[in-house]
Amino acid sequence: MMMNGGVDVVLMMVLAVILAWTSAAGASGKCIGSERQALFSLKRGFNVHDNWLSSWGDGEQQKECCNWEGVTCSNNTCHVVMLDLHHDTFYIADTISPSLGELSHLIYLDLSGIDFMLTPPIPPSIGSLTLLKHLDLSHTSFGGEIPPQLGNLLFLEYLDIKHTNIYGTLPPHLGNLLYLEHLDLSGHAFTGTIPGQFKNLSRLQYLDLNPGPSGRDNILNSDNGESMSLSSDLEWLSQLSTLRYLSLPELNLSSATNWQRQVSGLSHLQYLDLNGCNLVDSMPNSSLAYHANFSTSLSFVDMSDNSLTDSSFIFSWLMNSTSTLVTLRMNDNGLTGTITETFGDKLMSSLEELNLANNELEGQIPVSFFHIGSLTTLDLSHNRFTGMLPEDLSQLSSLQVLRLENNRLNGSIHEGIGQLSNLTELNLGNNLFHGLLSEAHFLRLSNLTTLDLSHNAFVFNVSVKWSPPFDLRVANLASCNLGPNFPRWLHTQMNIENLDISQAQISGLVPNWFWDRSLKMLYMNLSHNHIRGKIEAQIPTNYYTYFPYDDLQTIDYSFNLFEGSIPAFLSKHAEIFLSNNRFSTANLLLCSDTCKNTRFMDLSNNSLSGELPDCWIDFGKLVVLDLSDNHFHGNMPKSLGSLTNIQSIHLGGNNFSGEISSSLINCIELQVFDASDNQLSGTIPSWIGDNIRKLLVLGLHSNKFHGNIPLSMCNLDELRVLDLSQNVLSGRIPTTTTTTTTTKPYPTRWGRLHGSNDAIVLYH
Ligand SMILES: *[C@@H]1O[C@H](CO)[C@@H](O)[C@H](O)[C@H]1NC(C)=O
Ligand SMILES: *[C@@H]1O[C@H](CO)[C@@H](O)[C@H](O)[C@H]1NC(C)=O
Ligand SMILES: *[C@@H]1O[C@H](CO)[C@@H](O)[C@H](O)[C@H]1NC(C)=O
Ligand SMILES: *[C@@H]1O[C@H](CO)[C@@H](O)[C@H](O)[C@H]1NC(C)=O
Ligand SMILES: *[C@@H]1O[C@H](CO)[C@@H](O)[C@H](O)[C@H]1NC(C)=O
Ligand SMILES: *[C@@H]1O[C@H](CO)[C@@H](O)[C@H](O)[C@H]1NC(C)=O
Ligand SMILES: *[C@@H]1O[C@H](CO)[C@@H](O)[C@H](O)[C@H]1NC(C)=O
Ligand SMILES: *[C@@H]1O[C@H](CO)[C@@H](O)[C@H](O)[C@H]1NC(C)=O
Ligand SMILES: *[C@@H]1O[C@H](CO)[C@@H](O)[C@H](O)[C@H]1NC(C)=O
Ligand SMILES: *[C@@H]1O[C@H](CO)[C@@H](O)[C@H](O)[C@H]1NC(C)=O
Ligand SMILES: *[C@@H]1O[C@H](CO)[C@@H](O)[C@H](O)[C@H]1NC(C)=O
Ligand SMILES: *[C@@H]1O[C@H](CO)[C@@H](O)[C@H](O)[C@H]1NC(C)=O
Repeated sequence: MMMNGGVDVVLMMVLAVILAWTSAAGASGKCIGSERQALFSLKRGFNVHDNWLSSWGDGEQQKECCNWEGVTCSNNTCHVVMLDLHHDTFYIADTISPSLGELSHLIYLDLSGIDFMLTPPIPPSIGSLTLLKHLDLSHTSFGGEIPPQLGNLLFLEYLDIKHTNIYGTLPPHLGNLLYLEHLDLSGHAFTGTIPGQFKNLSRLQYLDLNPGPSGRDNILNSDNGESMSLSSDLEWLSQLSTLRYLSLPELNLSSATNWQRQVSGLSHLQYLDLNGCNLVDSMPNSSLAYHANFSTSLSFVDMSDNSLTDSSFIFSWLMNSTSTLVTLRMNDNGLTGTITETFGDKLMSSLEELNLANNELEGQIPVSFFHIGSLTTLDLSHNRFTGMLPEDLSQLSSLQVLRLENNRLNGSIHEGIGQLSNLTELNLGNNLFHGLLSEAHFLRLSNLTTLDLSHNAFVFNVSVKWSPPFDLRVANLASCNLGPNFPRWLHTQMNIENLDISQAQISGLVPNWFWDRSLKMLYMNLSHNHIRGKIEAQIPTNYYTYFPYDDLQTIDYSFNLFEGSIPAFLSKHAEIFLSNNRFSTANLLLCSDTCKNTRFMDLSNNSLSGELPDCWIDFGKLVVLDLSDNHFHGNMPKSLGSLTNIQSIHLGGNNFSGEISSSLINCIELQVFDASDNQLSGTIPSWIGDNIRKLLVLGLHSNKFHGNIPLSMCNLDELRVLDLSQNVLSGRIPTTTTTTTTTKPYPTRWGRLHGSNDAIVLYH
């Protein structure tokens, strides 16, 4: 310790001597007066409000601007050659003074992270800094367009303008920067085309034009709604032979029909991002000319979200070109055809992410894919792959994400999958798999958070005492056979948010702990089972205030044998599907003083009876209400008129009587109103035609309406289905010839008379 301390002291003394010497040199006044003034103007423009740049003063002690924070002068000429004012987190300043241009000996200028509140344009005077080699204006909030004067900076090697507020076109003058090695213009939505002059940038190693999320938002928000994104034919690219990093996502390359040849010329390429570029297959006739030579370098390729279709060509091009890929994303194209076994062989050594999802690939999945020991993500979902998975998956020990859903894979799954202990997501849904799944299939999957086995023919054979190693967030087990008893192992899943155990052959009662667990779920589907009993949750006192996702929750308990009262707390959920059960009353749900977030409520085909309670005042968010096929009687409650967002009301198949409640005149968003098969009477109200102008479907058949069909019905321009059959209506079917209030021609779709003359079914 002593020794080290001693050495430190000596070092400190040496440093102190050096510092004293340099500041003595400073005091001799080597700072150039005009440059000091220019720096002062800069500081004034910034309007600094704290200690930053406090060394930039005009007191006697501070005159030596070469000692100022961020300023470096040349030892020979005393000119300011470096100005480094960068901030790693944003610093809020007002604006930039054009006096910047007076620092004409600058070689290095870094203003990154200064957030200019007044979004000044990049000052054209920057074009006077003709000695600049390094210019960093990233994250600065500069606005306006890129000034063509940047093209004067002939010695520039490094130019970074990412994430500012600039927009517009790319000036061709950038093509003058023959020494440029690094060009980062990402985070913007430029328009126009990439100037052909870019081909002069023959020393470029790094080019980033990724608009990123902020740029993408601007593309989408452009005024006329048309996409105005930057486009290019890539003719300039083939000469940039030193490129290592090329990121051009969202660039419109639909006219770059030779992209493959142009990219193939880039023999030093390591990173290639052409995601979302409207790429189409390159002209195949000259394929031999595209023989690429990335063999020692290319590690990242993203060509997802394009319109590539010829998989054999693309795959053989990549395969012949590189053996060093780490990431390959070709998802969301229209790739057709099969994948050869050799493709996987070539990729084996280094690949970590392979994403071919959302294509039309078919045939077997190459067995070699399952031998790539470095893989962490394998996504082949949403294709047409057939065949079985190999038994031996042991080489995929690094695998974290396996997505094979929505294919036509068959056979059973070997227990070996339970050894892939790094798995966090396993998705085999919507295939033709079958067979027993035992505890061994999950034995070491302790990191699993997403499990989707839905819509196969899997049968769970696990003991009632099974305590799975995982703690799932998402469990989609729809149409797996989990029954006959309610799966007890769900008790151990404390953090589940998304659970689908519909069509799972479960019968019997739901254990009480489950209802409490369900309060936290965003999505729960128990439908299409044979579950009996009542819904009885112990609602924590803070439930309504504590749980934040109130208006996201969806529950589907339909097609079961639930009975009793529908509990009040369900009205907190956004979507409740309870149809086809045996519930006997909904009064608690409708009339309790609990929070009401429901947008979608389906209580149809239950045993709900009595008068429909007049409790709709708090259901203002409701969009769809289905009460059909129950035993309600009495009048339609007046408060239905509070449903001012309602688009669809279904009351058919009950015993409602009296007139259609005139309060519905407020429900002007209504598109579907079906009250067929009731005992409703009176006349068909004319306010329907006058006020409910968005109506598409009006079903009032099998009631006791009498009188004329009101003329106002002719106003319902959107109407597709009008069914008034089985009533006691009289008079004539209204036509515009008898209607003077409308200038619209009589809608031809009101053509067809059906049944007796009081029965009209008019279809589109
Ligand atoms: C100026 O000289 C010092 C000491 O020799 C040296 O450390 C520094 O790098 C030089 N500065 C420039 C800009 O050349
Ligand atoms: C840049 O390229 C253009 C053609 O695109 C050429 O006319 C011009 O001379 C080049 N500029 C320089 C500085 O080489
Ligand atoms: C892409 O560019 C082509 C012409 O090169 C144009 O027809 C097309 O509309 C553009 N697409 C988008 C999405 O901007
Ligand atoms: C490829 O074929 C098309 C049409 O068949 C032709 O116009 C084009 O010149 C060919 N390209 C090459 C590089 O031969
Ligand atoms: C491939 O690239 C390497 C290194 O860049 C080079 O030495 C070799 O000649 C190139 N081969 C071909 C066929 O272009
Ligand atoms: C890939 O290499 C094979 C054999 O070396 C050749 O037949 C094929 O044309 C090449 N494909 C491409 C796209 O270069
Ligand atoms: C999990 O992956 C890491 C590397 O990502 C690997 O070192 C480890 O062996 C894997 N775990 C198992 C059990 O194979
Ligand atoms: C799986 O599907 C293939 C055809 O895609 C069929 O030949 C094979 O018999 C099926 N195997 C099983 C176990 O169903
Ligand atoms: C798996 O979980 C263990 C412990 O929870 C953790 O240390 C490890 O990093 C996880 N592995 C992966 C690949 O996430
Ligand atoms: C289910 O698992 C148990 C215990 O592991 C076993 O005895 C039984 O045979 C399995 N059921 C079927 C249908 O294979
Ligand atoms: C619940 O599952 C059934 C059957 O799997 C499905 O038809 C229904 O759409 C699901 N319900 C919801 C709300 O997603
Ligand atoms: C209503 O449920 C019964 C069984 O409870 C079923 O037979 C009937 O088909 C269902 N009706 C409708 C319209 O779904």
